[in-house]
Amino acid sequence: MPKFKAALIGGGNIADKNHIPALKQRSDLVEIMAVCSRDQSKARALADQHGIPHAFDDASEMYRQCQPNLVINCTPNNLHYPYTMQALENGCHVLCEKPPALHAHEAREMADLAARKGVVLAYNLQLRQTSEWELMMRCKSEGQLGEIYHIKAHFLRRRGIPGWGYFTNKKMQGGGALMDLGVHVLDLALCALDYAVPTHILANTYDFIGKTGSKGLMGSWDPQKFEVEDACMAYLSFPNRASIMLSASFALNTKTDVDRNLEVFGSKGGAKLFPFSLYTEVGGELADVHFPYLEDVDIQLRNTAAFLDACLGKPSNVCTAEQGAILQEVVERIYGSAERIG
Ligand SMILES: NC(=O)c1ccc[n+]([C@@H]2O[C@H](COP(=O)([O-])OP(=O)(O)OC[C@H]3O[C@@H](n4cnc5c(N)ncnc54)[C@H](O)[C@@H]3O)[C@@H](O)[C@H]2O)c1
Repeated sequence: MPKFKAALIGGGNIADKNHIPALKQRSDLVEIMAVCSRDQSKARALADQHGIPHAFDDASEMYRQCQPNLVINCTPNNLHYPYTMQALENGCHVLCEKPPALHAHEAREMADLAARKGVVLAYNLQLRQTSEWELMMRCKSEGQLGEIYHIKAHFLRRRGIPGWGYFTNKKMQGGGALMDLGVHVLDLALCALDYAVPTHILANTYDFIGKTGSKGLMGSWDPQKFEVEDACMAYLSFPNRASIMLSASFALNTKTDVDRNLEVFGSKGGAKLFPFSLYTEVGGELADVHFPYLEDVDIQLRNTAAFLDACLGKPSNVCTAEQGAILQEVVERIYGSAERIG
């Protein structure tokens, strides 16, 4: 089988540190043809650094000259939609960075176009690839958890408002802590409920610290230009009465610098993700089961491999276009609820 001809759009941090190294490790299946970024000289420098032959600052020209059939969209959030649509129009499989888009209708259009074109669109939500999450899903499918009826999911930073880039810019990011961090654990929580769509959502967003402080553990920011939420708290209820309690923060007066975890509560057992523990009954007695030998894996390499499996028509646990559309709809409804309350 001929190798996939890959191109990266956006040549920043995630392209350089995650996607290119992962694709290079899959040179059995992929040849990286081109990098396309806003700045031609930076695209050229990144291409040279990784031995990639072509560099562009114009995506149309890149499609014309290189004819890739696989694209990794590593651009800022506001460009996920236009560049993914263009890649799909060109018949490419696409792995797009998270969040899927800025708006629910965009993620829906992206999924519909991928389906019409018969190509794979997937999202880089790579926490799915941790050994812990894979074990969680095995416990679920083997029935160890019974019926899952509640999930607590959080991704909290104490003072982690990034002091660089455009993380506080609403137009480019679409939101703050929920869009940037919360989507990772929300994706897992929705997976645990088979990506059901919530019937009710109640949420609040806050910006007390972002609007008043300016210094944190990830540099300084300008409170005058802080346009997004620094914290988001949401409660989601599902048709079968299952529920998710979600919290995400860039800044919160809490103990730990970064706290990211998920707890799943089921009728037969419960589980905590990091470190993975199962809370159950053994021989009629309450038991905590620990797993000290879980493998520490390269989750980007695994997610890239899962995406390639999907492109080859093999079973894959990568976040699909349909799931991405639901995820974005839920994010939009969370913000909608917070606006109505606020
Ligand atoms: N999955 C994860 O864990 C994870 C981690 C970090 C970032 N991300 C996501 O990756 C995306 C990029 O983040 P990053 O940290 O690499 O940002 P970055 O700022 O380092 O890189 C963005 C790149 O996009 C390029 N770009 C900007 N405008 C462009 C345009 N009009 N045309 C073409 N290229 C353009 C920039 O030149 C830059 O090279 C974001 O959506 C972010 O949410 C995901």
